[in-house]
Amino acid sequence: MPVLYKNEYPRPIPRVNELLVCHTAEHLLHLTGWAEAELSILLVGDREIADLNRSWRRKNGATNVLSFSLTSGADTGMALNLLGDVVISVDTAAREAELEGISLHARLQALLVHGFLHLLGYDHEKSQHEAKRMYNKEMELLRQLTSKRRDKMIKLAVNVDHVATLREARGISEPDPVLAAGICELAGAEGIVVHLREDRRHIQDRDVRLLRQTVKTKLNLEMGAAEEIIQFALDLVPDMVTLVPEKRKELTTEGGLNVAGQKKKLTAVIARMSDAGIPVSLFIDPDSRQIEAASNVKATFVEIHTGRYADATTEEERDREFQLIAVAAEEAYETGLRVNAGHGLNYVNTTRVAALETIEELSIGHAIMARAVFVGLDQAVREMLGLMP
Ligand code: PXP
Repeated sequence: MPVLYKNEYPRPIPRVNELLVCHTAEHLLHLTGWAEAELSILLVGDREIADLNRSWRRKNGATNVLSFSLTSGADTGMALNLLGDVVISVDTAAREAELEGISLHARLQALLVHGFLHLLGYDHEKSQHEAKRMYNKEMELLRQLTSKRRDKMIKLAVNVDHVATLREARGISEPDPVLAAGICELAGAEGIVVHLREDRRHIQDRDVRLLRQTVKTKLNLEMGAAEEIIQFALDLVPDMVTLVPEKRKELTTEGGLNVAGQKKKLTAVIARMSDAGIPVSLFIDPDSRQIEAASNVKATFVEIHTGRYADATTEEERDREFQLIAVAAEEAYETGLRVNAGHGLNYVNTTRVAALETIEELSIGHAIMARAVFVGLDQAVREMLGLMP
């Protein structure tokens, strides 16, 4: 086994995803021609890395990464294909990730590359020339590790349910969500989302049927897995469906689907959709168990629920929730799922999520419609697009 991973980080949070770290390490070994070699990775906290720094380098204080190479010196591990150990402090990595505005995993990945190059003999402390050589190699490897990420801009899909909510409040024919969808598309939205609820509280069958004919980008039908709605979707054939949990009394979708708890049912629904040529997305909380289950039931996409991040009341809580989303998106992507995200995203909190390169599309409704009341729908959509990289 070429990657030996040990997590001795003493706290449960921030959570490090073993799968992602090991995946990066294996990829790194392949990229550099060391696929058969053994690399050991140890995750610790600041206290532990400070101890190692003191004992082995006679330096005080914590650092982000330490490498203990077996490829040089007297007791070389080369013959045995042993590269050595990379030790990373999760505490320092998390602080640096926050400063850079990137996910913990992205920072761990960069530190792993740095430590790995030290194992191979690169040393930025030797000379300026060596520092440049190491930096260039680091950049090259990081580019290669992330090259299969999204190369296009992230997409915005606008949820027009609230236009129908306003119409239903009067029980007349205005405003029309079908017209709203056209305006969103003209402003640059690359998808339209509607949630056909069993109680038909906002979007009506007529809306979805007309949207099927008028939407030029992509129609994403959000729905609960109730038989009547499934039949409707199979008959209509939208560009994709997003399955969500649906409760009659909720004001809006309250949380992700428990995919792990209803694998049999969802496998059957997804198979029926698949036979009709409809890709399925599952709306899930940022949780490893749900991602694994989504992959098992053969979903094409997951939509990661960003509601808890959006609702966070302190910076600390928001950072914690953001990290969960970043790791979940990465994990789903690595599992082979396509990744969307949404719920509660607005003009303040969207940019950070939109910067995650594993996410293809954001589904946003309420914030855009709320702003449209004051500035018009066209401008509200354009402003949101302006916040997305
Ligand atoms: N994604 C899903 C699955 C949803 O249920 C909703 C709300 O209908 C959204 C995204 C959009 O959420 P918001 O209206 O808060 O932008």
